[in-house]
Amino acid sequence: MSIKKAELHVHLEGTISPILAHKLAKRNHLTIPEGLISPDGQSYLSRDFLHFLQVYDTLAALIKTPQDYYDVTFDYLRTNALEDTIYVEMMYSPDHAEQSTGAPSIVNLQAIQQAIDDAEAQFNITGRIIITAVRHFGAEAAIRVAEEAAKESVPCATGFGLGGDEINFPPKLFTQAYQIAAQAGLYCTVHAGEFAPASGMIEAMENLPIQRIGHGVQAIHSADTIALLKERDIALEICPSSNITLGLFKNMNEHPFPKFLDAGVKVSVNSDDPPFMRTNLAQEYARVQEAYQYSDDTMKAITRMAIDCAFVDKQTKAALLSRI
Ligand code: ADE
Ligand code: ZN
Repeated sequence: MSIKKAELHVHLEGTISPILAHKLAKRNHLTIPEGLISPDGQSYLSRDFLHFLQVYDTLAALIKTPQDYYDVTFDYLRTNALEDTIYVEMMYSPDHAEQSTGAPSIVNLQAIQQAIDDAEAQFNITGRIIITAVRHFGAEAAIRVAEEAAKESVPCATGFGLGGDEINFPPKLFTQAYQIAAQAGLYCTVHAGEFAPASGMIEAMENLPIQRIGHGVQAIHSADTIALLKERDIALEICPSSNITLGLFKNMNEHPFPKFLDAGVKVSVNSDDPPFMRTNLAQEYARVQEAYQYSDDTMKAITRMAIDCAFVDKQTKAALLSRI
């Protein structure tokens, strides 16, 4: 049996494979714009980070019904459970969902909850949802997302997060949204230090009630940021292939993952938007293990670290840790 895996950073709308995209387009009577899917039919094409976000928004718009959300969620959990993944946190974006489905977000969340329950019963995989606002939809939209998440939710929705364009929309703008989410008892994470410098991570740690940071790889250029991560016990959700595909690092040898681990920063291994990055969680684990010559015990320790900072209660954590 392979190493048990856990994932803390994957965008639900970003898990749609080209095959599923064709299926969704057909059943929802939509056309996928020319030039979006790569010639080999395995991935999507984008020129740079901001264009990637546009392509991502276009793909997310293929999801039209709560049933689509059910299928996307169940498909992702089933596929990963078959590769020995025991835990996945998926980011769900109510802005994308409501714009696209026209259904209130809670209806989509109920479908997602059902998919998580069904996958757990059939494949023994635990799933949770991070309700995620999108920076480039603005601070007011993020406040609305947080208010909705605080008001009306489902048991799987245990986290709040923020993705999108961090260059033009810095963390401080979203302080109020995070306060609302944290007061409602949601655990919090934020994308930072991916395309914007490490100073954005410091801004996030000083202004937002976060337990984790998505990416955070720019901290490698700032000893102060690494020190603050350790002091505050804030974990990084690292997505190696995503960083390489989007041009932050040339290859696994240049990726700072092992430096963070050696420095004592808590890390996890994640796929981000798997088909966009031509990867999946099992491949990310394999790439990390091969590139840095880690033993199986080190890989298991990475899974344990992920579970330690998962957005679940103590009992669920203990049950998951006992399976590694
Ligand atoms: N949304 C989907 N993928 C993302 C990424 N890598 N960075 C920021 N926002 C995202
Ligand atoms: Zn992400």
